[in-house]
Amino acid sequence: MKEWTFKNDKGLSENTVLAKLYVKDWETMKAENTGYLFWGAVGTGKSFLAGCIANALLKQEIEVRMNNFAEVLNDLSANFSEKNTYIKNLCRVPLLILDDFGMERGTEYGLEQIYAVIDGRYRSGKPLIATTNLTLQELKNPQDTAHARIYDRLLEMCVPVQFKGESLRKRTAQEKLGRMQKRIKEEMR
Ligand SMILES: Nc1ncnc2c1ncn2[C@@H]1O[C@H](COP(=O)(O)OP(=O)(O)OP(=O)(O)O)[C@@H](O)[C@H]1O
Ligand SMILES: [Mg+2]
Repeated sequence: MKEWTFKNDKGLSENTVLAKLYVKDWETMKAENTGYLFWGAVGTGKSFLAGCIANALLKQEIEVRMNNFAEVLNDLSANFSEKNTYIKNLCRVPLLILDDFGMERGTEYGLEQIYAVIDGRYRSGKPLIATTNLTLQELKNPQDTAHARIYDRLLEMCVPVQFKGESLRKRTAQEKLGRMQKRIKEEMR
């Protein structure tokens, strides 16, 4: 994720300004326990901008931890005995970024783990940035109490920021295809 820097940003959207502001106002964000919830469709640049924030703060020697959310859940199911230590470590860092927050594991055990992570961070009083494909509508209308307890905390900690537009991955794929077609034409000449 080293390439995810503001210098490499080709988007220059309002969300870029918001992400840069987070770095600029880090001391306030930290003091007020304010994070972001980047939500929107796939490939719209949520992880990229979260990574930009992480790299910019790391450059200032501020400790940031960015984890894929599914990996966190995996770790938690594997190291059950060390669960508390693991969550404590997640809550220790000044800024935690959970990439790809979701509720894939709808099992009771899965929900408990998600709750443990989010509530742990919530109680630590330190900011959290999360990216998700869930819509704000879904987060605001939880299906049951178990989901509500998680989403409610998340929405208190994180300012929701919508990511719109078509997938940037699609654009990259089209560019690749275009280059290949050009090469084929050259070869067939
Ligand atoms: N502002 C940007 N400038 C340059 N490249 C970008 C920008 N935003 C995203 N990209 C590139 O586009 C691709 C998709 O972006 P990204 O992975 O951040 O999407 P995402 O919203 O996190 O998608 P998903 O919901 O599937 O996780 C990546 O390869 C990323 O490097
Ligand atoms: Mg992503």
